[in-house]
Amino acid sequence: MKLAELEPKVYSILKNKLLEIEERLTMVCELLQNEVTYYDWVGFYFKNGDKPELKLKAFAGEPTDHTIIPFGKGICGQVAVSNANFVVPDVKAQNNYIACSIYVKAEIVIPLFVNGENIGQIDIDSHTPNPFTKEDERFLEFVNNEVGKLFE
Ligand code: SME
Repeated sequence: MKLAELEPKVYSILKNKLLEIEERLTMVCELLQNEVTYYDWVGFYFKNGDKPELKLKAFAGEPTDHTIIPFGKGICGQVAVSNANFVVPDVKAQNNYIACSIYVKAEIVIPLFVNGENIGQIDIDSHTPNPFTKEDERFLEFVNNEVGKLFE
């Protein structure tokens, strides 16, 4: 399915107030993982209270051991401090990288802002080499923008 076609679906999941936020986030992860062929693992990490670390809040795909990631560590931890999108076409070329699965070839992490503050991120792993484009960045920024509204 085309990324733009997923936008209304993401929107309708997130606005469903009958579900807890965590359930809605899990459904968004499942939607993305099911509908985008090269999205093999999709998760949302959030800042863990006052601690300088990220905590996994929702995901779709294989369970990971990396449910807590210190700021600065791995691709995710670097985005927690850089506040910038991080697109990794080839994870083998990264030295500050936390491997979750031997099948992962590429990764994209997009920060999630609420009132200008970086409170978390969406993280996607792909088994396809170099699959992510500007279109993925724009789409995931849309997703994070909608998720951010739940935390305002
Ligand atoms: N690869 C990430 C760790 C999280 S897993 O991809 C689920 C990183 O380097 O931060």
